[in-house]
Amino acid sequence: MAIHILGISAFYHDSAAALLRDGEIIAAAQEERFTRQKGDARFPSEAIKYCLAEAGITTQELDYVVFYEKPLVKFERLIETYLTFVPAGFQAFRQAMPLWATSKLHLSREIRTGLGEKFCGELLFSDHHESHAASAFFPSPFEKAAILTLDAVGEWSTSSIGLGQDNKLEVLQELRFPHSLGMLYSAFTYYAGFQVNSGEYKLMGLAPYGQPLYADLILEKIAELKDDGSLWLDMSYFNYCQGLTMTSEKFHELFSGAPRRPESFITQKEMDLAASIQKVCEEMVLRAARHAKELTSAENLVMAGGVALNCVANGRLLREGPFQNIWIQPAAGDAGGALGAALLVWHKFLDRPRRVNGHDSQKGSFLGPSFNNLDIGLFLDSVGAVYEYVADESVLLDRVARFLAEEKVIGWLHGRMEYGPRSLGCRSIIGDARSTRMQQTMNLKVKFRESFRPFAPCVLREFVDEYFEMRPGEDSPYMLFVAPVRQKYRLQLSSDDLAKMQDPDLRIRVSIPRSQVPAATHVDFSSRIQTIDPERHGRFYRLIRRFYEITGCPVIINTSFNIRSEPIVCSFEEAFRCFMGTEMDCLVLENYLLTKENQPSWLLQDPEKYQNQYELD
Ligand SMILES: [Fe+2]
Repeated sequence: MAIHILGISAFYHDSAAALLRDGEIIAAAQEERFTRQKGDARFPSEAIKYCLAEAGITTQELDYVVFYEKPLVKFERLIETYLTFVPAGFQAFRQAMPLWATSKLHLSREIRTGLGEKFCGELLFSDHHESHAASAFFPSPFEKAAILTLDAVGEWSTSSIGLGQDNKLEVLQELRFPHSLGMLYSAFTYYAGFQVNSGEYKLMGLAPYGQPLYADLILEKIAELKDDGSLWLDMSYFNYCQGLTMTSEKFHELFSGAPRRPESFITQKEMDLAASIQKVCEEMVLRAARHAKELTSAENLVMAGGVALNCVANGRLLREGPFQNIWIQPAAGDAGGALGAALLVWHKFLDRPRRVNGHDSQKGSFLGPSFNNLDIGLFLDSVGAVYEYVADESVLLDRVARFLAEEKVIGWLHGRMEYGPRSLGCRSIIGDARSTRMQQTMNLKVKFRESFRPFAPCVLREFVDEYFEMRPGEDSPYMLFVAPVRQKYRLQLSSDDLAKMQDPDLRIRVSIPRSQVPAATHVDFSSRIQTIDPERHGRFYRLIRRFYEITGCPVIINTSFNIRSEPIVCSFEEAFRCFMGTEMDCLVLENYLLTKENQPSWLLQDPEKYQNQYELD
């Protein structure tokens, strides 16, 4: 009889479920994709339901269910922190305690209730950072690797260094709360007027527009960075232990002003702050990696934890760090803890062997639901949409590639949904990377978001070193490394453009093309690269190959299939609604092809109405 293990992460932000059958990853998904509430932190009932359906089993057949952290240890940390800051911490204490008293302390009961009475397996709890470490090492393609986990906080740990070998995983050193790179980065995210836990990516995107003018000040006053990559924070600059905000008055005095109001004009100060904290972050990641190398002597590095999504730091680590190879869990945040916890049960608790065959076992992170043409056709008929069913894949891909070359913005749904925060070619909005207006069009008319944020290029893997400063054939299938565009593809700025680059308005600076693939090139010539290969990406690879045959360019841009604040679409219904509520030109749902101009006017949705469904993040 096969052994089924279900991993769960929940009750903080972005809850998720992951299912293993005899150690193989069968399914994994975030709850938000089903409930349509971004970062849904509730018990992941829908994600679990999906995982069980994908495996074709019921809760009765689950042998183990494992939760990704230890609630009692976390509770101990909260109590100790509040006691340390008494009486200042009382307000935060009073807010947090009812939730703990009613649900988190009774987690076993809550999980058993959520699973239903038919569940008769064993319920286990793993350590938060060990779950991250397991999610990084066990699916990686390495027999032996140093493990680096970096996040805001779990129970006590905020980062850890470990060693993975075969089916063993050992945590060697850890940094403990309140000293945390994740918290430090989030404090600056908050101060720059973005939302903690989701705006960190925006801050990273803003950094190339600034100068790291405050980096020395940060290191001098706020954060002492040691040679081993550990960090000591002066807590008088923060408020997250005792209050309901991230930063204290002293922090605001140091940077001469109150936090930026969300949605207000972004000034040079925010850009310089973003560049400064980004520099500090990169420095810490590099030092921690060097220390991990000293401790483990491993050739390879694996990473997880929210900070591991900082692909600019990852790119520097790849180019300047001491490791030959790096693999990062694509669901690096807490959602990935569900997978890590399940893998810990299989390899550590049950001591089952791990087989490494040169490839990772993450399956491209295509671990969510897929949909068939029959159901899509029935749905399109039921709503009265006008479509074409293109049975022959090569005909379909030729049509789509030509639309791309005509600068059309295309919604693309194919295969299983991605696990983790990035769209990797199954729930994506795609466009021509050569287009000078694509970045603005996609940001403003399709995504309805800040226009300074760059799009990721999808490049055929065989061309990655041709366009970007990467090694020939180097893998970056999970869009987790940033690399510079090669010199020969960069454009020289005219004197006019040089003057525009000084404009305080970011929208002016963004409009200046920096390379021959301008839609995918950031202001500092960097690109967040996804390599596309035939084994992992199948049809998506063949699409870009066709685009290359037509245009001579092996690069397109790819962004998540959603608008700002909306969870990435899961089903064809959501994809269709998003298509009709934005200015997307075409939609591909498996073998169905739709163009906006052919849709009856009564199906068009007012974009403003579509946006108003979602609270701004
Ligand atoms: Fe975490």
